[in-house]
Amino acid sequence: MAGLKNLLGIAELEREAILTILDQAKRFREVLDRPIPIVPALRGKTIVNLFFEPSTRTLTSFNLAASRLSAQCLNFAVAASSTKKGESILDTATNIEAMRVDGVVIRHSAAGVPHFLARRVNCFVVNAGDGRHEHPTQALLDGFTLIEHLGTLEGKKVLIVGDIAHSRVARSAIICLNKLGARVAVCGPPTLLPADIAELGCEVFYYLDRILYEVDVIHMLRLQAERMTANTIPSLREYRLLYGLTRERLKKIKPETVITHPGPVNWGVEMDYDVRELPQTLIMNQVKNGVAVRMAVLYLLALGRGILNEEAG
Ligand code: CP
Repeated sequence: MAGLKNLLGIAELEREAILTILDQAKRFREVLDRPIPIVPALRGKTIVNLFFEPSTRTLTSFNLAASRLSAQCLNFAVAASSTKKGESILDTATNIEAMRVDGVVIRHSAAGVPHFLARRVNCFVVNAGDGRHEHPTQALLDGFTLIEHLGTLEGKKVLIVGDIAHSRVARSAIICLNKLGARVAVCGPPTLLPADIAELGCEVFYYLDRILYEVDVIHMLRLQAERMTANTIPSLREYRLLYGLTRERLKKIKPETVITHPGPVNWGVEMDYDVRELPQTLIMNQVKNGVAVRMAVLYLLALGRGILNEEAG
């Protein structure tokens, strides 16, 4: 594209770029409802998924997105690769690129790895989650799902609840939903709320029951135990009582308030299982829309349509 770029974070995207992706995703969402949900848009292109952290939704949906676009998609098997012999990420990526791939989708536990690679390879790079920094396609699919359900995010109150400190999903969501016109608030225990989180553009609450019943959207987060280096909550039981979407709290939310969660869900911790059955719970809509949004991202990047700002790459 004029200035082929990457998708590294929501922070680098202008609102117009986000809307371009969501518009394209809407077209692909319609494709996914066809009896044969495949288009030839990226025939001849090759995408490699380079996941150094576990994933169910993101990895599978990038795979599906590529195949629905008729691209070839390969999953790099980290555990069976030469990274286990000490090969660096840069060498891994440049070797893969030498085999003529068009794009790399990378997930890594260290923040900034996708940005590091993007400066050193010629193929496009998509950030599928880097440490606790950003998870841009998750934020895009969350925004897409909420607009699909609510019609607009302009002026809507979105509350993100839980482990904000360790969450790349929260960071990307705060930035993305703000750019889409929402009023964003976060709520969690002080130990799980970064001191500077308000600078991303959100109100901060510590008591869930003070804010829960006023909002249009409740976006629940998982406790990210794999990223915690210290005890941040007294017990899971106490966390559930103070910050969980429990059966008792569900009785008091507005019937039109929608509930989202990026997954995976720790049922019985951040949400009681009852939430799964509610008509306003959009978790499976998020998963389904994830394929369409990732199709849009791969399509726009692979065809060089210039979705990003000049400084974003
Ligand atoms: N939401 C999300 O990133 O899920 P996975 O870790 O399963 O990809």
